[in-house]
Amino acid sequence: MIAPKLDERLQAAADLIRPCDTAADIGCDHGKLSAYLACTGRARRVIAADLRPGPLSTAQKTCEEAGCLAHVELRLGDGLSVLAPGEAQAIVIAGVSAQTAIEMLTAAPWVKAEKTQLVLIPATKAPMLRRWLWENGFSLNAERLVCAAHRWYAVMDAVYTGQAKRPTDAECLLGLTQDQPGAAEYRAQQLERLKKFRRGLENDPAGAQRADRLLRQLEGEA
Ligand SMILES: C[S@@+](CC[C@H](N)C(=O)[O-])C[C@H]1O[C@@H](n2cnc3c(N)ncnc32)[C@H](O)[C@@H]1O
Repeated sequence: MIAPKLDERLQAAADLIRPCDTAADIGCDHGKLSAYLACTGRARRVIAADLRPGPLSTAQKTCEEAGCLAHVELRLGDGLSVLAPGEAQAIVIAGVSAQTAIEMLTAAPWVKAEKTQLVLIPATKAPMLRRWLWENGFSLNAERLVCAAHRWYAVMDAVYTGQAKRPTDAECLLGLTQDQPGAAEYRAQQLERLKKFRRGLENDPAGAQRADRLLRQLEGEA
């Protein structure tokens, strides 16, 4: 078996996954992460799933070429609906929006009871996903920062603990990234996004005030 080379996002996700019997790669697309996990034995079995048949057949080809198809099950379907509760001890959801990841997790409340490891790389709106995780009783164990195609991404390792908290806006914006290599660059990117978001709040005085408070706080800390 020859594991495919992963980009930095997916390598960080693979590194965060604890060795397990079954891992699920939801929204697997090209299937490189699924093949990597199967080839390296990080997971004995990998469920590679996607909403669309096109990506799933690409994933099949990737796994065939890597020589690991015997250890990979390909499943067509929406989010975590392709899994039986508890079937996977680790689930990766990478490269979809925070909103889509939240919808997937909301539709599969069993991830709470099963204490499934969640490795999440939102393509957009990481602060929204952090807020949802914390408010819904998930804990972030770690975050890794990676730069891909000139953008910084946070790779999150989360699990349900039942201890919900109300995070501050600053906590949601930066998460656990502050001691990570790339923290300064990530912070600058997040500040720029916040400023852009603020410019769209001209007709929302309360939202504008809240964004201004956060901007003052972060610029004061810089
Ligand atoms: C941009 S690709 C990301 C591929 C890979 N995970 C990565 O991060 O490189 C997003 C993939 O998620 C799939 N997808 C989007 N919504 C989904 C859903 N609700 N359930 C399963 N797959 C979904 C898309 O079909 C697409 O193949």
